[in-house]
Amino acid sequence: MPGLISQTLKAGERCQEPRFPALSIFRARKVESGMSFITVESLTKVFGSGSERQRVLKGIDLSIEEGEIFGVIGVSGAGKSTLIRCINRLEAPDSGRITVAGRDILSLRENDLRKARMEMGMIFQSFNLLSSRTAYGNVAFPLEVAGLPKPKIRERVMSLLDMVGLADKADSHPSKLSGGQMQRVGIARALANEPKLLLSDEATSSLDPQSTQGILELIARLQKALKLTVLLITHEMKVITGICDRVAVLDQGRIVEEGRVLDVFTDPKEPATKGFVEEVLKSGGPMLPDGYKPKGRMLRLRFQGEVVSEPLLSDLAALHSVKAVILQAQVDRIKGEPFATMLLDLIGEPRDLGSATDYLTGLGVRVEGITAHAS
Ligand SMILES: Nc1ncnc2c1ncn2[C@@H]1O[C@H](COP(=O)(O)OP(=O)(O)OP(=O)(O)O)[C@@H](O)[C@H]1O
Ligand SMILES: [Mg+2]
Repeated sequence: MPGLISQTLKAGERCQEPRFPALSIFRARKVESGMSFITVESLTKVFGSGSERQRVLKGIDLSIEEGEIFGVIGVSGAGKSTLIRCINRLEAPDSGRITVAGRDILSLRENDLRKARMEMGMIFQSFNLLSSRTAYGNVAFPLEVAGLPKPKIRERVMSLLDMVGLADKADSHPSKLSGGQMQRVGIARALANEPKLLLSDEATSSLDPQSTQGILELIARLQKALKLTVLLITHEMKVITGICDRVAVLDQGRIVEEGRVLDVFTDPKEPATKGFVEEVLKSGGPMLPDGYKPKGRMLRLRFQGEVVSEPLLSDLAALHSVKAVILQAQVDRIKGEPFATMLLDLIGEPRDLGSATDYLTGLGVRVEGITAHAS
């Protein structure tokens, strides 16, 4: 297996390999130039009929580039799992078009569909491991189905377990593994057939924060090393800000917002997106100290890039005759880039408050007026 075993992990390595050639079922396709690795067009899905009829996907359009980690976030019932299940055709959509590596997924016949699925690794919230098999046996399973000879299976499984940090757990059954370890087995199994696409449906939702962090780091490392394209479904904004390049917000079966994670996070437009961003900000502590009575104008600032390391508040006070009470300040990292949020009570004459706000906006700081009960 030249692929997995010979891969070396280099920090900071980006995926810039040839477009789509490694997928065998997709390899023979003539890919139109400029075409994305995954395209979803006008995808719809209805469950039930009559009074039970429910439109779960209402015309989804998405383009996911080769080598990116693309996140789809949405609340429970938004249609996330249905969307990912349509992409590997575990679910049949009612209308629309899906291509992976230029190949029309919805027109694949049984044999090609089976091969295509093998090339789309998938990991799940509940791990879906076979309890009667060891970690080794679980990772070996898809290779046995694919008909690989035993020595090849052994070589590949041990390499995969090593890659996810579980070489010493090969003989352990799932009941003897922690949640994080079970998901590592799930990831090794998903990568067994050397897919170029990894689909992740809430892979960290049943894990504690520390294991979540470990799994996200592992996915990010494997994505770089194996040049994977990752489509990751979640309801947790922390997962998105942790490893995704771009994000789409799915709300009641529609994509309501989409873009680079940093842009969407720093300047959310839609109520659904604002809710997710709020969740991350609140996890840094309560927005306002109990019983706080504002003395001036309450503002929330969000900023990124160079301005994060500038003496912003000193400059503001010196240049615009205002004083700032800092009620909350937080610096998060989005794919390694610092991003700051501050909640201020800005005190001064209305004219000075106006010029201070203009000054901040001019520096690229997003300024939002909020009311005292916004906590
Ligand atoms: N096989 C099915 N038959 C009928 N309804 C279904 C089926 N699968 C999903 N649904 C319904 O479709 C809607 C979307 O479900 P889906 O599982 O895609 O949501 P989700 O965003 O993944 O939610 P969660 O975060 O809870 O996993 C839900 O109302 C669900 O009840
Ligand atoms: Mg789901």
